[in-house]
Amino acid sequence: MMGSRKLDFFICVLSVLPLICFSATFVPVDNYLIDCGAPANTTVGDRQFAADNFFKKLLSTQKDVLANTSSKPITSFSDSSLYQTARIFTGSSKYTFSVNQKGRHWIRLYFYPFVYGNYNLSIANFAVATQKNVLLSNFTVQKNSVMKEYSVNVTSDTLEITFTPSNNSIAFINAIEVVSVPDDLIADDANTISPPGRYSGLLTEAIETIWRINMGGPIVSFENDTLDRNWLPDQNFLVQPNLAVTASNIPAVKYVQGGATQNSAPPIVYGTLTEMNSNNDPNSNFNVTWQFNVDPGFQYLVRLHFCDIVSNSLNQLYFNVYINSWLAVENFDLSVAVNALAAPYYVDLVTPSIVGNKFSVSIGPSPVNNDYPNAILNGLEIMKMNDSLGSLSAGTAVIVNNSNSKKKVGMIVGVSLGTIGAVILAGVFFMLCRKGRLARHRLSKTWVPISINDGASHTMGSKFSNVTTGSVASNIGYRIPFLAVQEATNNFDESLVIGIGGFGKVYKGVLNDGTTVAVKRGNPRSQQGLAEFRTEIEMLSQFRHRHLVSLIGYCDERNEMILIYEYMEKGTLKSHLYGSGMPSLSWKERLEICIGAARGLHYLHTGYAKAVIHRDVKSANILLDENLMAKVADFGLSKTGPEIDQTHVSTAVKGSFGYLDPEYFRRQQLTEKSDVYSFGVVLFEVLCARPVIDPSLPREMVNLAEWAMKWQKRGQLDQIIDPTLAGKIRSDSLRKFGETAEKCLADFGVDRPSMGDVLWNLEYALQLQEAVVQGDPEENSTNMIGELSPQVNNFNHDASVSAAQFEASSVDDLSGVSMSRVFSQLVKSEGR
Ligand SMILES: *[C@@H]1O[C@H](CO)[C@@H](O)[C@H](O)[C@H]1NC(C)=O
Ligand SMILES: *[C@@H]1O[C@H](CO)[C@@H](O)[C@H](O)[C@H]1NC(C)=O
Ligand SMILES: *[C@@H]1O[C@H](CO)[C@@H](O)[C@H](O)[C@H]1NC(C)=O
Ligand SMILES: *[C@@H]1O[C@H](CO)[C@@H](O)[C@H](O)[C@H]1NC(C)=O
Ligand SMILES: *[C@@H]1O[C@H](CO)[C@@H](O)[C@H](O)[C@H]1NC(C)=O
Ligand SMILES: *[C@@H]1O[C@H](CO)[C@@H](O)[C@H](O)[C@H]1NC(C)=O
Ligand SMILES: *[C@@H]1O[C@H](CO)[C@@H](O)[C@H](O)[C@H]1NC(C)=O
Ligand SMILES: *[C@@H]1O[C@H](CO)[C@@H](O)[C@H](O)[C@H]1NC(C)=O
Ligand SMILES: *[C@@H]1O[C@H](CO)[C@@H](O)[C@H](O)[C@H]1NC(C)=O
Repeated sequence: MMGSRKLDFFICVLSVLPLICFSATFVPVDNYLIDCGAPANTTVGDRQFAADNFFKKLLSTQKDVLANTSSKPITSFSDSSLYQTARIFTGSSKYTFSVNQKGRHWIRLYFYPFVYGNYNLSIANFAVATQKNVLLSNFTVQKNSVMKEYSVNVTSDTLEITFTPSNNSIAFINAIEVVSVPDDLIADDANTISPPGRYSGLLTEAIETIWRINMGGPIVSFENDTLDRNWLPDQNFLVQPNLAVTASNIPAVKYVQGGATQNSAPPIVYGTLTEMNSNNDPNSNFNVTWQFNVDPGFQYLVRLHFCDIVSNSLNQLYFNVYINSWLAVENFDLSVAVNALAAPYYVDLVTPSIVGNKFSVSIGPSPVNNDYPNAILNGLEIMKMNDSLGSLSAGTAVIVNNSNSKKKVGMIVGVSLGTIGAVILAGVFFMLCRKGRLARHRLSKTWVPISINDGASHTMGSKFSNVTTGSVASNIGYRIPFLAVQEATNNFDESLVIGIGGFGKVYKGVLNDGTTVAVKRGNPRSQQGLAEFRTEIEMLSQFRHRHLVSLIGYCDERNEMILIYEYMEKGTLKSHLYGSGMPSLSWKERLEICIGAARGLHYLHTGYAKAVIHRDVKSANILLDENLMAKVADFGLSKTGPEIDQTHVSTAVKGSFGYLDPEYFRRQQLTEKSDVYSFGVVLFEVLCARPVIDPSLPREMVNLAEWAMKWQKRGQLDQIIDPTLAGKIRSDSLRKFGETAEKCLADFGVDRPSMGDVLWNLEYALQLQEAVVQGDPEENSTNMIGELSPQVNNFNHDASVSAAQFEASSVDDLSGVSMSRVFSQLVKSEGR
């Protein structure tokens, strides 16, 4: 399988590459460069864009509106002077370029919105199309300048580019390029990655460059590219920068017959790369992953540029490339492709239609032939292919939805309702069973909602439990000498950085007693930072709970602000949801994590005389240990909650965008319910596996809380869940989870459940999910009652609530009555 696939791959590649020969400097036959609205020619780099009137004869428009601004956009490339003038179109307007040589042409469109007289270009909304392809529709540029690059195969004698304002709006353009592309730049076919095969028809495809990246090297502006392309550096796209290192040897690059050419990419792209940070460790086995935002619903043409400037000899480097977790190139050996070191080469791949808006590319070692595991990437181009209607505009893309159909869900709900009482009973007794077992194990008389992974005993007592584990004082984090911190982190070795946040960098370290720790080193002292530093030490020294990350010590010598925590092997919850290419979590794992985090927050809110409000609840502040047990972290913003007689704390609004409680924002009043709101956002994040704010998405999807609530209210939450969960969540578990998140996001704090209620409901969602494994609930429940009654009694005794009450409320819950009453009774009976 592996062998044959590799063979296919090379046969195809070899049949294409010989066509690409050494090219002298490419001179485009068609070369229209227009600085629209400009009174005089504008020179950028070695190119001259013509004044507006020079190509005016190509334009048909109702009314001439030439606009200018004195402000200059900040662009990454040296093209900012092109943006200072524009042509504004009040009606449909068209440029007609005569084409001297048919074939591929770049179309580059430059936009920069400014205000000119009565025209506010920030609110212009319009479409741009050629005769065959829609390039943009419902398009608005709000603030920054943008340059859109397309490549279309022109088969007629003219290329028409039409700008059409939306109803009652205007269109505009700051500069435009129509330039011939070498015929051999894009071949007709390429390998497909899922299912593996061959795609042909690229010659007629319209494509849009979405990302063009120079791995391990600097930004490359059009002046240094024979085809005037811009390349961005890759650092900002690396998911875990500490896993990657760069290498550079530009002079070594030697274009060879059968490989890539200068027109494929310049030496500065091929002569720099990003590789695994494996330190010659023969056991290295990890991926280096980059992640990009893309428009869902399109297929993409991906070009991977390689040039082995790191090996000492041929046949040393074997690696795999993954795209969105598809194995895209397996056991790749550049030596076979080009038979030379430092010889440029590229591979084209076509993806299936992409479902989410994330696109990740990973490189990792191949398991075979690998004495020195390594993997490299020199350059990357991600190009959007036109959809079946010939459009490249996200506005018109047909998004493939592979969630369950509504019909199916309806059926499951129908069936479940029939046997619902029995399911509940089974669920409840199943929970009680676990509870009884665990309670014995822990020798705890505490009320604890049904435990998931409470099996291991936990040394830190909490106010909430009667487990005696010594005084809190004995557990207070202690001061650690700066020298010890330096030693633990190899003097703050950059390669040990595991996270970077507003506060500073986080390093992985090992104390001299062998304890692995996470060392958070604050940026040089600021008042704000200092306050947060103190809060964190104070809070974490007082609060010990298995679902709160523990503080091991701190260091404030030499004006440093360093916090040392227990090391959480699996990193943040966020990194497991998206952005890192990590394997996706199962629904059960996600529920258990949410339950753990809820338990930590519940403890904060209730486990102490005064409630503590976390204020920065988000998926990046929920950490996971090696067993995926969740712990809440980052107490820098925490505040002690209201006294008994008050209902809120008034305070400046702080927290993270996308998670902020709107009520807190409006009224600047803080209650525990603000954490509940943020936690609700986390719940949706866990379900949908996307960022809470994603500005690259269509407007109505940008804010996850709003977007998810819309679908939840329609009862169609299943339409937007993480595709990897599709078909794996029981509908009643999803419904419970959705309702819980919805309640958390209630507009007013008073309408939101307490963290305890949330916890209970999540437990319940988990039971509903697991009920499926129990087989026929009706049968099992009868058996279970008999077997488990002693534990049930035990539990009831602890909780001072009768089993009858419990069951009744459980069933009630399905008819819409909250279980919170039962829950609060349980809590109250325990007393604080
Ligand atoms: C302006 O650009 C046009 C088109 O490139 C060129 O023909 C013309 O000579 C230029 N004018 C000046 C003054 O450079
Ligand atoms: C900018 O536009 C104004 C009219 O609003 C015009 O008077 C001026 O000459 C223009 N400046 C340039 C550099 O085109
Ligand atoms: C132009 O429109 C933008 C976006 O709606 C708005 O923020 C800005 O205030 C407007 N500027 C003027 C001068 O009207
Ligand atoms: C624009 O107006 C036309 C005619 O009034 C209407 O048919 C069309 O739906 C409108 N388009 C949008 C996007 O509102
Ligand atoms: C453009 O498309 C035509 C078919 O319509 C094809 O014959 C030609 O090779 C293509 N040119 C390029 C440069 O892709
Ligand atoms: C082109 O690249 C060289 C280094 O390879 C650099 O010195 C030069 O500044 C670059 N030129 C431009 C215009 O980016
Ligand atoms: C690299 O990523 C792929 C795709 O996500 C995954 O299947 C593979 O196990 C990863 N390899 C390592 C060593 O983590
Ligand atoms: C792109 O558009 C052409 C027609 O212009 C169509 O034949 C082709 O299938 C489209 N490509 C995709 C990937 O849908
Ligand atoms: C245009 O885009 C906006 C924001 O993304 C969206 O709300 C609106 O529905 C779109 N309109 C059309 C006609 O697609």
